[in-house]
Amino acid sequence: MADYLLAIDQGTTSSRAILFDRSGNVAHVAQQEFPQQFPHDGWVEHDPEEIWGTVVATCREVIEKSGGTPSRIAGIGITNQRETTLLWDRQTGEPLYNAIVWQDRRTADACQDLRDRGHADMVQARTGLLIDPYFSATKLAWLLDHVEGARERAERGELAFGTVDTFLLWRLTGGRVHATDATNASRTMLFNIHTQQWDDDLLSLFGIPPALLPDVRDSSADFGHTEASLLGEALAIGGVVGDQQAALVGQACFEPGMGKSTYGTGCFMIVNTGDKAAVSRNRLLTTVAYRIAGKTTYAMEGSIFVAGAAVQWLRDGLKLFDNAAETESLARETRDGHSVYLVPAFTGLGAPHWDPKARGAIFGLTRDTGIAEIVAAGLQAVCYQTRDLQACMRDDMEASPGTLRVDGGMVKNGWLVQFLADMLDVQVDRPTVLETTALGAAYMAGLHLGWYKDLDEIAELWRCEKSFVPRMPEAERERLYQGWLTAVDRVKSVP
Ligand code: G3P
Repeated sequence: MADYLLAIDQGTTSSRAILFDRSGNVAHVAQQEFPQQFPHDGWVEHDPEEIWGTVVATCREVIEKSGGTPSRIAGIGITNQRETTLLWDRQTGEPLYNAIVWQDRRTADACQDLRDRGHADMVQARTGLLIDPYFSATKLAWLLDHVEGARERAERGELAFGTVDTFLLWRLTGGRVHATDATNASRTMLFNIHTQQWDDDLLSLFGIPPALLPDVRDSSADFGHTEASLLGEALAIGGVVGDQQAALVGQACFEPGMGKSTYGTGCFMIVNTGDKAAVSRNRLLTTVAYRIAGKTTYAMEGSIFVAGAAVQWLRDGLKLFDNAAETESLARETRDGHSVYLVPAFTGLGAPHWDPKARGAIFGLTRDTGIAEIVAAGLQAVCYQTRDLQACMRDDMEASPGTLRVDGGMVKNGWLVQFLADMLDVQVDRPTVLETTALGAAYMAGLHLGWYKDLDEIAELWRCEKSFVPRMPEAERERLYQGWLTAVDRVKSVP
């Protein structure tokens, strides 16, 4: 009998392969970072071969760590950085260009033009999204317009489009499966989240030939088998789910009103809204949380583009420390009441501002500002931005989660999570398994493969490691937050 589910977590800065046991505990992990490419201001690309190479290498490594017997694996779940756009040749599997990463802002003007021409309401009504370079549609249109011959070849059916899950599926199955799941499809801005179909009007608005598109399946479904030569055996792929939705599943937020916030490269707060595709008045997104047995569950999402990426910049760009783990002790050294604000708008601002042309800044420097204050400001920025989202959710839903479940690499930092609880004025729960994104993908595969009967059985496996309770005085909380709002106003491209 098999012992493990293998989760492939292809993220923005690294690829990870994790083996989970039946209780959702991590048995083995392999991880590889890969380079980010920044060819121009606001452009972000990945080499598809590096994505693929690190995925295969980490899968092999984790199988090796577990004793080198792939037959101990019941099946695979895939989770991925969402929206990142790839285009490849159906014959050879060769990409025509680098992957254009979700953070990439090259289509900012094209998006402005679409908004100016009055398409925003129709796009939001059908996709739940706001017109922004973040999503795949304008990135794909850019590829078709800028890679020589791509549009003609796409019309002739010679090319395939996919987000990272689809590209990996294609490669893992030796080109036999061209598919995605409803969560990833819901981030392309080409998919109607109400009918659960690619939308003809959107395809013509963005000039996308339908022949490019993958089949859209449930998040827990048959996605074929891996080529036996890749991992030593043909393994069933039973789950595909975008990484933020995967974290919602891994955090067992299955009831309407339950929410989580994940602090990876970016920060994404998602609240389950059940079978209701709730529309935000505050520029949050409506998205597919998961689709199981043909039933769609929806969510409201606030997306912040830079969270862990700010720590990476403080480490690699400013060289203020060697290891992200040092940020906790540095932050604890800050003098009380410092008023340094770091607005990490390196690739513009996401929710609720949606300002692709804003850029980052540090404010409030004084003679006694040191590394500790700048590092703390980077961590605090993530918490202030979460509070921005919380305010929107409260207004949209007349309530926001009374407690928030958090995960992602940054929440190992207890100082940060305490500041988050203080800033939100709600209890913040950190689970025992912090690999919730990968866990969610494993659960989706496990449901399909019969390891779990239903979501209730999965919910029972969730465990809290520590609850952080707010303890900051109200006046201090508001003073700090008002300072943040002023700082953000100063980086916006339009007031
Ligand atoms: O929407 C982008 C998101 O999926 C990226 O996630 O974990 O790489 O920050 P992450």
